Amino acid sequence: MVAVAKAHPNIALVKYWGKRSEAEMLPDVGSISITVSGMLTTTKLAWDDPEANTDGRDVVIVNGESRPDEVGKVSAWLSRFREHNNISQFARVESINDFPTGAGLASSASGFAALAAAAFADAELSPTREELSRWARRGSVSAARSLHGGFVELFREGDSHATQILAEDEWPLDVHIAITSSLRKDVGSTSGMKTSAERCPYYGAWVESQEADLQTAREAIAAKDFEKLAVITEESCLKMHSVMMATPPGLIYWNAGTLEVVHRVRELRRQGVGVTYTIDAGPQVKVICEPQNSERVKDALNDLKGIERLIHAGLGGDIEVTRQ
Ligand code: DP6
Repeated sequence: MVAVAKAHPNIALVKYWGKRSEAEMLPDVGSISITVSGMLTTTKLAWDDPEANTDGRDVVIVNGESRPDEVGKVSAWLSRFREHNNISQFARVESINDFPTGAGLASSASGFAALAAAAFADAELSPTREELSRWARRGSVSAARSLHGGFVELFREGDSHATQILAEDEWPLDVHIAITSSLRKDVGSTSGMKTSAERCPYYGAWVESQEADLQTAREAIAAKDFEKLAVITEESCLKMHSVMMATPPGLIYWNAGTLEVVHRVRELRRQGVGVTYTIDAGPQVKVICEPQNSERVKDALNDLKGIERLIHAGLGGDIEVTRQ
């Protein structure tokens, strides 16, 4: 038997950056995200795979390759899972992302969400949604959010887990991902945020001000108030990037195209168009709007020289798991 899990990536509106425990993968701040449709990680996992069990090691293949960094992280997660659930077998894991790696969408979020769901399903265990979310988080903190569709909050407190705030069909939004460079980033999120926590003089203020931002975003989502959500999304993004830039020797993820998109979106907002943007640990800009403004937003971005490609998406649903 093989378990197959399908999970979407997510984009944080109120950002997570920094851990209070590296070993336990506990975030220093809560965060709020949207799950993105049209892009999928599909992970197949079998605990009784003959090759893995004869060799006495997990077999991990991501997008057809066994890259040591990815294999290491997945194997460490599987060892912990095995120990906790008294499983003696090794696993074969095959994971495929149908979205480009240079799209600036963290494949680790959908990847660890799908891995956790498939690992439980193939072991014929039925975790609660909270438990599943915690196990996804132990692979990558943002993965805790990819178990749910729509709008999702990941809590800082306790053994952090994520829950859904609103389902994807309750308040549909459109996402235009502006790819401004497909090159691999040189400082990944995990090490970048560790350096920020250690060396950024504003890190304490970032953590302290997060609860107010989360509260504003919760209110905006509950009221489906796009303007309010747009303002807090932009503020949280700029605050996180200020922390990054003030992390010696300076984590600058933006390029010229990033800034071009930011200015164009701000111009649209000044013209009264409901649109906002957010940027993660890379140069791509995720432009978010209500569906009725989608064409206008797309047209406004189309002629920007700094954009290599525009990807259009909507809000995605919950993770899906089957056994075959
Ligand atoms: C900038 O969840 O990828 O995308 O927990 O170390 O695996 P680890 O990091 P990760 O960090 C995501 C950071 C971010 C903001 C966000 O998604 O909230």
